[in-house]
Amino acid sequence: MRAALAPLIIFGLALSGAAQAEGQAAPAVFKACQSCHSLDPAKAGMAGPHLAALNGRALGSAEGFDYSPAFKAAKAQGLVWDRERLLGYLADPDEIVPGGWMSPPAGLSTADRAALADYLLKQ
Ligand code: HEC
Repeated sequence: MRAALAPLIIFGLALSGAAQAEGQAAPAVFKACQSCHSLDPAKAGMAGPHLAALNGRALGSAEGFDYSPAFKAAKAQGLVWDRERLLGYLADPDEIVPGGWMSPPAGLSTADRAALADYLLKQ
């Protein structure tokens, strides 16, 4: 099922957020994330892990991505992504996963972070 949906998601992203992947358009600020992250689990070689099915997903669990020791430790602790944790991570990654590799996303307002979290948790 997921493999069958992937081309649709890529197609949706190609339309630069105009397409309704799962019924919700990508917020414009997601463009900045896409230089490092894909929503397609099959897409390898990005600087960051794929962000598909993030809701309830264990931290550091995208198959095939070589995470920092900090993310490996978070996964071993059994931490999972939910809205609150994702909002915290987007505001200050180091506060949620101390010593991880992602820099704090620049220039995001509180509303941007909320829109991003809502969008990503539905993918
Ligand atoms: C310059 C590259 C880069 C950009 C831009 C970037 N990230 Fe990341 N992101 C990473 C890397 C690298 C990791 C893995 C960190 C680690 O292993 O410590 C990561 C990890 C994550 C994770 C954890 C995923 C998991 O598997 O647990 C989330 C969620 C995330 N990023 C969201 C975002 C969002 C949303 C944006 C846009 C606002 C963004 N990132 C922008 C590089 C980036």
